[in-house]
Amino acid sequence: MKLMNRKEFLFITKSLVCSLFYFGINPLSLSGKSKDRPLVPLNTELSKIQIIYASFHGSTAQIAEYMGKKLEKIGISVSVKSIDDDIDFTACNGIIMGAPIHRGKWMTEAEEYIKKHSKKLEQLPFACFYTCMSKAKQPPSKDTLDELSSYQSAMADLFPTLSPSHIGSFAGVLDYDKCSLPAKLVMWSILSKNDLEAGDYRDWQAIEKWLSFTTNYLISENTLKQAKV
Ligand SMILES: Cc1cc2nc3c(=O)[nH]c(=O)nc-3n(C[C@H](O)[C@H](O)[C@H](O)COP(=O)(O)O)c2cc1C
Repeated sequence: MKLMNRKEFLFITKSLVCSLFYFGINPLSLSGKSKDRPLVPLNTELSKIQIIYASFHGSTAQIAEYMGKKLEKIGISVSVKSIDDDIDFTACNGIIMGAPIHRGKWMTEAEEYIKKHSKKLEQLPFACFYTCMSKAKQPPSKDTLDELSSYQSAMADLFPTLSPSHIGSFAGVLDYDKCSLPAKLVMWSILSKNDLEAGDYRDWQAIEKWLSFTTNYLISENTLKQAKV
């Protein structure tokens, strides 16, 4: 029997892990050693979550607003703001930040925001998400999985200390009427490669699922922080 070589092994492992994340399964939780499981009882009163978004055509902003409403409903104090707003970081103890993918990376303005506010953000429990059109391809082809994996790597480079499960990825919206000519050309190439039409591919259930998992993580991080003080 021929054993697989290292390259084949890494390729299969990477594809398997990406597929698990794609279908909303956190591989860490399968091992029973998930560091995402709350270690102490959650205290929602301790939590004031700040959701920050960057959005070019508005659909990521709507996701951020949706998350805010969902958190409010379960009694969490939450504020939703754009990167252009003034934010008082001392008034919150957990951050969720979202922005779209532009040409394979998190939207430039979001990256710049992270760099500008890194000192303040590093002090707080943090999770982030991105929206993109490649995620809309169902079922994903090998090329799509490679593309998504490259977005995930770009995000991991930006947030080296963040576990991949705290980097949410969601299918977004594309409306050609809102795009400039260069953006239309970029998107035409991405959509035709993935055999997709323009449209709204947001999966609100997937968004809610990630939000609930992430909120547990932010609150447990914060509860632990408070316990240490
Ligand atoms: C200039 C531009 C570049 C984009 N680049 C990518 C890309 O590289 N990969 C991808 O999957 N989607 C890409 N998209 C699609 C957006 O990520 C997606 O439409 C997102 O939902 C838009 O969010 P917004 O409405 O908040 O701006 C691009 C969109 C624009 C306008």
